[in-house]
Amino acid sequence: MRLTAEEQKMLDGDYGKAVQKCMKVLVALGDINGAERMIEVNNVHSPGVSYRVTGDAGLGYVRDVSEEVGFKVPATLNSIGIDLQDWKEIGFPEDFSHKQLELSACYEKMGAIATNTCTPYLTGSLPVFGEHIAWGESSAIVFANSVLGARTNREGGPTALAAAVTGRVPAYGLHLDENRRGEHLIEVEIELKTDKDFAVLGYFTGKLVGGHIPVFAGIEKRPRLESLKALGAALASSGAVALYHIVGHTPEAPVKSAVIDDGVKPVIFGRKEYDEVCEKFSLTGPIDFVVLGCPHVSIIEMGEIAEQLKGKKIKSGLWVCAARQVRSLADTMGYSRIILDAGAEIICDTCPVLCCTLTDRGYKTVATNSGKMAHYAPGLWNLQPVLLNTDECVRAAIDGKWEGRHE
Ligand code: F3S
Repeated sequence: MRLTAEEQKMLDGDYGKAVQKCMKVLVALGDINGAERMIEVNNVHSPGVSYRVTGDAGLGYVRDVSEEVGFKVPATLNSIGIDLQDWKEIGFPEDFSHKQLELSACYEKMGAIATNTCTPYLTGSLPVFGEHIAWGESSAIVFANSVLGARTNREGGPTALAAAVTGRVPAYGLHLDENRRGEHLIEVEIELKTDKDFAVLGYFTGKLVGGHIPVFAGIEKRPRLESLKALGAALASSGAVALYHIVGHTPEAPVKSAVIDDGVKPVIFGRKEYDEVCEKFSLTGPIDFVVLGCPHVSIIEMGEIAEQLKGKKIKSGLWVCAARQVRSLADTMGYSRIILDAGAEIICDTCPVLCCTLTDRGYKTVATNSGKMAHYAPGLWNLQPVLLNTDECVRAAIDGKWEGRHE
């Protein structure tokens, strides 16, 4: 790999051992992937910041780096393992929480911006079209690449940390024009009305394409941000999709020929395919737990949930997961009061997948509008999931059961 004089100095240890270690990580990554050079980045989103993910080994590594060096470029943090303000009330264990607090403090010492969310783009970190960035967290990566038209590979904890310390990433994969064209064409033959409908499409497509790039055609109405958020999260869960295009809607796909070759045979997504995904995530009967906000809710979603909960009391557990900044705006708007008065919990900084434990709550079933949550709930917490629209989730929480049918 060709390095600039500055990059070579970092690799040679002129800026200390921690910078050298980080540069070595990036050079090795570049060599494995055939990169010829480094690219400068000015925006990092660090995953692997939950102690549940890092364990003691990861904490030790981050502690060592933080004792020697700070971040060169702005870096936001992904969801962590606890709610920083309410972890005691929620019941997160003391020992885990203290480890998490230490891990978060190490990142903040290096200069990280403590967004603690999988939706940094809802909290002011908004890369522009064509910008090279180094983001981790699968749902955020796919949003940045597809909806914003920024450019990032799927960074892990160590590589994002290295990018924040050096301001560099190796030039390969989705940073390069030639790797951003679609590989599978999905012809959408039904109207997608709700965020959950987009999650269903994402789940179906992720299973089909794995880590490749899908192009969606046939979606006429411009999807809202929340639907695109749901689509990407599901694509990155059942598959490992880091970039998708929607013809006529996402920025790199004004027309089909801009993103996919003529000869690619389409796969149909129609009523049958939609129903098959819904069937996989269906149940009737008692609902113990409801999760909204995977990825973390926008202020628009928070308002919708508040509207549906106004004057009601819930029978099952209900977590509304949000970035703290969105929570703060929801407080101002009066949404939080309504949600809390109904008996729900607003969980910040973390989520059911990355938090330390849910096992002591005795939950057996979960209703969610998230394809990602539905995908992970059985394996992680032994919860049987049902995938519903947001208003159906709220209704299930109020009734403590779900007896409806998918439409
Ligand atoms: Fe975000 Fe946690 Fe879901 S990090 S995307 S709420 S699994």
